[in-house]
Amino acid sequence: MVRRAPLKTTALDDAYRLLDASLMFYQGRPVGTAAANDPKGPAAENYRECFIRDFVVSGLVFLADGKVEIVRDFLLAALEVTEREHGNPEQTIHPSVMPASFRIRHDALAERLEGDFGERAIGRVAPVDSVLWWTLLLCATVQASGDRALAARADVQRNLKRVLALCANDAFEVYPTLMVPDGAFMVDRRMGVYGHPLEIQALFYGALRRALHYVERTPENRRLIALGEQRLANLRDYLRRFYWLDLQRLSAIHRFPTEEYGGTGSNLLNIHPESIPEWVTEWLPEEAGYLVGNLGPGRMDFRFFSQGNLLAILFGLTTVRQATRIMSLIEARWGDLVGAMPLKLCFPALSGEAWRLLTGSDPKNAPWSYHNGGNWPVLLWPLVAAALKSGRRPLAERAFEVAAERLPQDRWPEYYDGKGGRLIGRHANLCQTWSAAGLILAHKLLEDPSLLSLLPE
Ligand code: GLC
Repeated sequence: MVRRAPLKTTALDDAYRLLDASLMFYQGRPVGTAAANDPKGPAAENYRECFIRDFVVSGLVFLADGKVEIVRDFLLAALEVTEREHGNPEQTIHPSVMPASFRIRHDALAERLEGDFGERAIGRVAPVDSVLWWTLLLCATVQASGDRALAARADVQRNLKRVLALCANDAFEVYPTLMVPDGAFMVDRRMGVYGHPLEIQALFYGALRRALHYVERTPENRRLIALGEQRLANLRDYLRRFYWLDLQRLSAIHRFPTEEYGGTGSNLLNIHPESIPEWVTEWLPEEAGYLVGNLGPGRMDFRFFSQGNLLAILFGLTTVRQATRIMSLIEARWGDLVGAMPLKLCFPALSGEAWRLLTGSDPKNAPWSYHNGGNWPVLLWPLVAAALKSGRRPLAERAFEVAAERLPQDRWPEYYDGKGGRLIGRHANLCQTWSAAGLILAHKLLEDPSLLSLLPE
C-alpha cells in the first residue's frame, strides 16, 4: 500500500515549488519573485512583476532558509531603480517613494530593471508603503546575516533617510500620523482608505523605528533623528489612545460632547456620536477591542482592518493588553474574520450607497470580495506571528490548519469571496506567490517562534 505524505508536507512542498517557479532573474541572479504565475495568465499584466510588498513574504522565507543573497540582491535592485528615478532631474514623484513593483526588460544587448512608481499601476496610485516594507526587510536581512556593512552602504543610508524625511515633510497636518491618498498600500484601489489608514501607520511606526536604529548618527543626520524620535513617541501614544476601540471607549464616543473649542476636551477630533455604525455596537465582544481603520477630523472609520492590527501588535505599537484584546476579538469573531480561509482583509464590507460612494462603484471590490471584505491567504503569516507573540499558539495553529488544508487543493488563490470566505475569488489569480510564501512562513514561525526576531519591536 502506498503511504500518503502528511497533508502538511505536501502543502509545503507544493508551496515551495510555486515560490521557486516565481523567481525572476537579472544578470543571471535571482532578484525577486513575480506576484503570480497563473498558467491561464494573470488578472493584470503587472502581476508578472516583482512587487515590493509581496516580495517581503518571499524574502522572509529566504532569510529563514539561509538564502540571504537573494534578499540582498532584491534590496539592491529595488534601490537601484529608486536611485535612478530620484537622480533624474525630470522626475516629479515624492522624494520618499519607492516603486510598487519592478520588471526586467530584455532588449537585444542588455537587461534593464524598470520600476513602476504608480505610473503604470491600475488607478495610478503612489505606493507609500514600499519604502516602509523595504526598510523592514533590510533590517531583517541585517539581523539574520549580521551584515552591518549592508546597512552602512551610502545608497542604503540615503534610503533610510527617505523614511526619516517623512517626519519632516511639509504636509498640512497637526497629527503625528501619516496622511496618504486612497490606495497607497496593500489596498491599492479606492476603498475610502485615504487619510490616515491604520496599515500605513503601523508600517510607518515599524519602519521608522528600524531606520532610527540603523541610520548613522552623524552631525548631518542629527536634526532628522531628533524629529524621528519625537514622531515615534507621539505616533505610538496617539494610536494607543485615539485609534483604540473597545466597549468602554465606544460608550464614551456614544456620549461624546461635540464642538469643543480650545486646548482641552474629551472629543478632540470632533467625532459625531451619530456616525457610529449600527453593526459595531452589536459586534464588539465585551472582552475584546481593536484599532479602528482610519481617523481624522470628524471621521472615525470603524471598520476592522486585519493587517494594520496585526502589524501593530508585531511592532509593539499596541500595549500588551491591547494586543491580547485584539487576539480575543479574532477568537470571538472567528466565523466573521477567519471563516473558511484566514484572513478577512477588512470587516465588514461596504455595500449599497457606501460602496457606490467610497469605491466609485468598483465591481472588483463588490461587497465581500477582494479588498472589500475578501479573505486573503497572505494574511495568515501576520496572524500567526501576532498570535505567537501574544501567547495564543492554539489560535495560530487552528488558522494554519484551515489554510494548509485548502490552499494547495484550490491552487493558491490570491483571495476568497463571500462572508465566510468559502468561494475562490471571482477575479483571483491562481498560483499567487504570496499566498504560498505566506503559508511557508506561517509554518516556519510555528516551528521556530524565535524567527519573530526578524521583525523586532
Ligand atoms: C493587488 C493587491 C496588492 C498586491 C498586488 C500584487 O494589486 O491589491 O496589494 O501587492 O495585487 O499581488
